[in-house]
Amino acid sequence: MLKVKYNLKMIPRFNIVKFSNAFKINSITLRLLQLRNMSHLKYESGPIKVAERVAHFKQDVWSIFTPLAAQLKAVNLGQGFMNFPPPDFVRKAAISAINTNDCNQYSHPKGRLRAREALAKSYSPLFDRTLDPETEVITSAGANEGLYAIFAGFLDDGDEVILIEPFFDQYIANITMNGGVPVYVPLRPHGDTNKIISSRDWKLDINELRSKITPKTKILVFNTPHNPVGKVFSREEMLEIAQVVQEFNLLLISDEVYDRLYYKPDVHERIATLPGLWDRTITVGSGGKTFGTTGWRVGWSIGPKHLIKTVLAAQTRIVFCVNSPLQEAIAISIEEAEAHGYYEENIALYEQRRDKLCKALSDAGLPYTIPQGSYFILANTKRINIPEDYEYPEILLNRPKDFKVCYWMAKEIGVVAIPPSEFYSEENRHLGEDYARFAFCKTDETLEAAAKALLKLKKYINE
Ligand SMILES: Cc1ncc(COP(=O)(O)O)c(C=O)c1O
Repeated sequence: MLKVKYNLKMIPRFNIVKFSNAFKINSITLRLLQLRNMSHLKYESGPIKVAERVAHFKQDVWSIFTPLAAQLKAVNLGQGFMNFPPPDFVRKAAISAINTNDCNQYSHPKGRLRAREALAKSYSPLFDRTLDPETEVITSAGANEGLYAIFAGFLDDGDEVILIEPFFDQYIANITMNGGVPVYVPLRPHGDTNKIISSRDWKLDINELRSKITPKTKILVFNTPHNPVGKVFSREEMLEIAQVVQEFNLLLISDEVYDRLYYKPDVHERIATLPGLWDRTITVGSGGKTFGTTGWRVGWSIGPKHLIKTVLAAQTRIVFCVNSPLQEAIAISIEEAEAHGYYEENIALYEQRRDKLCKALSDAGLPYTIPQGSYFILANTKRINIPEDYEYPEILLNRPKDFKVCYWMAKEIGVVAIPPSEFYSEENRHLGEDYARFAFCKTDETLEAAAKALLKLKKYINE
């Protein structure tokens, strides 16, 4: 090999590739030559350019309204987190997991065996099949990261994903950051929305759904019990959706994070159990919603081996593994939940909270949608009469009407709710503008304080 002796400054700029091939120089020498070759380039100073995939993100609704609640000392029925502690057996499980040595180290990217076994055992009867904890169950960092991993695993650039509006707002970024294109179809309320209606009255027009399908459609995202409407889809409604996904060979993501929260007489049925759907459905769940531990960030996905293996491939490169002790704690909680009668008791508690908030809204004179499941109530704010010259902060000036109504309500009434137009596309935003979403995963004291404050609304409501 030819040894090159030189003084860098003496070397003129030249074609490095041709030079290195001709003289077979080693890699360090090559790098030095490259640097010398680039030394004439000028680098501009200034802000670092943001990637296109996040550049268009607007400030999210949570980071506007959660701090607002604190700042105004308003009753916070905005974000869907519990302001009461998880049950004793769930907290004890976390403490015992932290005190178990191997629980503090990496877990398998699929999830801890104990968690997968607990999930398989508890969900097998609900899916009418024996779930294999090795291949059909995977844990995730909250349901949200599970959804991200599914989109990462199945979307190529330009693939379309159908979302039913209103939708959980994180879907959008999860899809677009993975090259997908969201396509929208709304649920529409039927009946007189100036009166109290049921979430059953919010319906999907199946022909409208069909009209949105193109050769690029890859995935349909379905959510029941639904956030924010509270709808629990009936078997008949699900059968119609099942027919569409089969006809067009779509992957179905069934977001069932509120699967343990539905109110009599409704029952939550799993769309993956309908004929022909198991093979094309991934069902997503959340330990945070189930056990009142939204900050633990433990969720899961259940589906056939050929789909879960792709979720695993993506997830291994996203988080590698889910935090170990809290995964173990969720495993123990699932193992013990039935013996504690937890699921039934929890439903009964949430039903009382729901009824309390419904009464508070009725007393205040606001019509609303009675939810069949989940822990949200959509109230119709159309008849609230806000003074025309009311002043709003700058960040709200270009936002839809419901952002302004929710701000006004936080400031003048003292209760924070979430503007649901955030859960709609631009084209259908108007469908959400006359609503506010109230969360009732709150203590009795909080709900009572909200009820008292909401009475102040009465004088602003047009008859
Ligand atoms: C419909 C829906 N899906 C998914 C999630 C995310 O759940 P997790 O907190 O487990 O990530 C939420 C949380 O609000 C939700 O409402």
